[in-house]
Amino acid sequence: MSFQLKNVSKTFKNQDKELKVVKDINLTVDDGEFLCLLGPSGSGKTTILRMMAGLDFPTNGEITENGGPVSGPSPGRGFVFQQYSLFPWRNVLDNVAFGLEVKGMETQERYENARNYIKMVGLTEFENSYPHELSGGMKQRVAIARALANDPQALLMDEPFAALDVQTRHNLQEELVKIWQEELQTIIFVTHNVDEAVYLADRVVVLSRLPGEIINTFRVEIERVRDRASTEFVDLKKEITDVLGY
Ligand SMILES: Nc1ncnc2c1ncn2[C@@H]1O[C@H](COP(=O)(O)OP(=O)(O)OP(=O)(O)O)[C@@H](O)[C@H]1O
Ligand SMILES: [Mg+2]
Repeated sequence: MSFQLKNVSKTFKNQDKELKVVKDINLTVDDGEFLCLLGPSGSGKTTILRMMAGLDFPTNGEITENGGPVSGPSPGRGFVFQQYSLFPWRNVLDNVAFGLEVKGMETQERYENARNYIKMVGLTEFENSYPHELSGGMKQRVAIARALANDPQALLMDEPFAALDVQTRHNLQEELVKIWQEELQTIIFVTHNVDEAVYLADRVVVLSRLPGEIINTFRVEIERVRDRASTEFVDLKKEITDVLGY
């Protein structure tokens, strides 16, 4: 699935105050591309992703997917939120199978489907566990499996690994790249972490502080699986960090 953002701006109005959070975004995301949106906290990243998901709308400009307007949420676009967002009263299997249940898929078929994705994220032994019995990294893996189970053409991910320790984050990044290589969805991944963006993305789009506008884009041509210790990795990280002004 491809996306196009044309002159997209967003202003929030609260009581008598107006806050411009996104400014003149022009961006094309190609079908099958792994794109990272990188920017400091409060730079409008979540706002942009929500608009691409059809959960909110631009004040100005236009967002299209495969050439047609994004007019609301669609099962073709999977969303993984910044906070863990599992149903606490459902076990892992029923969390992952949720979207398929909503679609009306019969029990055996949806469990079979869900189990595939649970296996893909390495949680087969935990399919009967409830969210409170899982670690943060495991919960995020369930959220990813749940998004994938709906067979979306695009995955929109909002800092899904931000709350995790470095080791767990690195493991999940590696898994996500593998899944993407197998499934070939378009992925739009929001992060404020330069290392994460360089590890994951085909292209990194850097946003400014408020109001968020694109200040630079970097194509990452480093071969996967990427070696964080390689000169090219370290050099690109430094170049992007300088642009971010950290
Ligand atoms: N519904 C809303 N109403 C009013 N202001 C909002 C709303 N949603 C977001 N904002 C404001 O828009 C700005 C950008 O928020 P957003 O969540 O998009 O940033 P972000 O880049 O995702 O930040 P973070 O990295 O901390 O998640 C913030 O100043 C926030 O207060
Ligand atoms: Mg955010």
